[in-house]
Amino acid sequence: MIAPTYNLVLVLCSLVTAVVAKRCADLTIPVRVHARNGVFRNSIPHSNLEVTQFALGITSATSNFTDSSLVGYATVKGEAFISAKFCAPESMPKQPVVQLLTHGIGFDKTYWDLPYDNFKNSYVDVAVDVHGYCTLAIDRFGIGNSTVANPLNIVQAPATLSTIYEITKMLRTGRLPFIPYRFSKIVHVGHSFGSALTYGLVAQHPAMSDGIILTGFSLDGTWVGTALAAFDLQLANLNQPARFGNASSGLTSQPNMKNLPDGYLTWADIGANEFVSPGQKFVLSVRTALTKGISLLKKDFFAPGDFDLSALEYSEAHKMPATMGEFLTLGGVPASAPDFKGPVLIITGNEDEIYCGGNCLAGASPQLPSVLAGAKKAFPHAGAFEAYVQPNTGHGMNFHRNTTGLYGVMLEFLEGRGLGVGR
Ligand SMILES: *[C@@H]1O[C@H](CO)[C@@H](O)[C@H](O)[C@H]1NC(C)=O
Ligand SMILES: *[C@@H]1O[C@H](CO)[C@@H](O)[C@H](O)[C@H]1NC(C)=O
Ligand SMILES: *[C@@H]1O[C@H](CO)[C@@H](O)[C@H](O)[C@H]1NC(C)=O
Ligand SMILES: *[C@@H]1O[C@H](CO)[C@@H](O)[C@H](O)[C@H]1NC(C)=O
Repeated sequence: MIAPTYNLVLVLCSLVTAVVAKRCADLTIPVRVHARNGVFRNSIPHSNLEVTQFALGITSATSNFTDSSLVGYATVKGEAFISAKFCAPESMPKQPVVQLLTHGIGFDKTYWDLPYDNFKNSYVDVAVDVHGYCTLAIDRFGIGNSTVANPLNIVQAPATLSTIYEITKMLRTGRLPFIPYRFSKIVHVGHSFGSALTYGLVAQHPAMSDGIILTGFSLDGTWVGTALAAFDLQLANLNQPARFGNASSGLTSQPNMKNLPDGYLTWADIGANEFVSPGQKFVLSVRTALTKGISLLKKDFFAPGDFDLSALEYSEAHKMPATMGEFLTLGGVPASAPDFKGPVLIITGNEDEIYCGGNCLAGASPQLPSVLAGAKKAFPHAGAFEAYVQPNTGHGMNFHRNTTGLYGVMLEFLEGRGLGVGR
């Protein structure tokens, strides 16, 4: 067998994506999972009624459900396959910088390269084509095209974090399959739960990252319970049987998502037929009884009037589940990342319901100019810290209209902190 070289891969890819300048390769990365997971006593729900019981627990404002569910800890070891898309500019820069992109709950790696409206909301396009970065967008462990595993005690934040750590090591040492390039500069970018994981990475392994961007995130958990309640969680395989259940005719591009085990959960159906956009009401169907799902999804992820209808449709049609184990561990973020020395940008939509309660600037004071600014104390030794409230944007940041503004802030932050691409 001929060992594939970086150039060979890029040449092959350029044939596939001749239209745009970036060249991409779909990768399946074998990764060693090695983590200290929680062991939870919860039984796996087999009906949506039982899911509601679980949802009441994780959204409780008065008790720590994770703690009361926890029996102990166990070391989880094994091999997983992480699905990823690697993109590079047409000609490799002299000093390349790679961004490792981790999506949040409800999405997969395409969150960073959204195809609707002709890729007008693609972060990857701007980062690679305009700013010259390489990107590696992963499907989280257990999600999308990555390995599916036990949704309670295996697919949890610590296990996923260990896969991000291993992939980062591969990027540094040139051991990523088909991309044998040693990156000396690696930036980690997350969205929502992906930001929690990114933060967890630099708290545990401060030297692994040269800089981080946390999007759709804050360190204030006040509103997470209410927002999760609005998900109206259901079993994924019952909610969308054609994609996740026994009626699956095959999500051909994501075979692992067929016939998902119980314990994989998703927000309720959009089902719904009414969309409210700026000054207009789109009535897509006369069936108006099921508006609950969409209004809740909209409330949690979309700022009123600041997104296109196609964004909402796309995100419901392509929604991804998350596991019970992830819901139980997503709040277990470390108190701080005291040894991380790289620059930190935290950028969240002003209207984010989950991490800002719908207004990141509410109660702003000179001491605490925004909810996001509260994260500063978690990074006492960061080379730079910036908290940026992105206007007219909700939690699903990449789905909003002003992604040109958003991506500009993110990429200029990196370039201004010595993490630009040397050409
Ligand atoms: C809830 O309990 C878990 C497990 O003991 C712990 O890691 C987490 O920090 C607790 N959360 C809060 C908000 O106290
Ligand atoms: C699929 O699941 C539904 C609902 O649980 C059940 O009624 C049906 O018999 C199942 N079909 C197959 C082929 O297993
Ligand atoms: C998913 O993995 C399969 C191989 O198992 C591959 O053929 C397919 O292209 C992958 N799809 C995506 C979206 O990564
Ligand atoms: C778009 O985003 C940029 C960067 O945050 C901001 O300066 C600008 O005001 C935004 N425009 C609108 C219309 O929200």
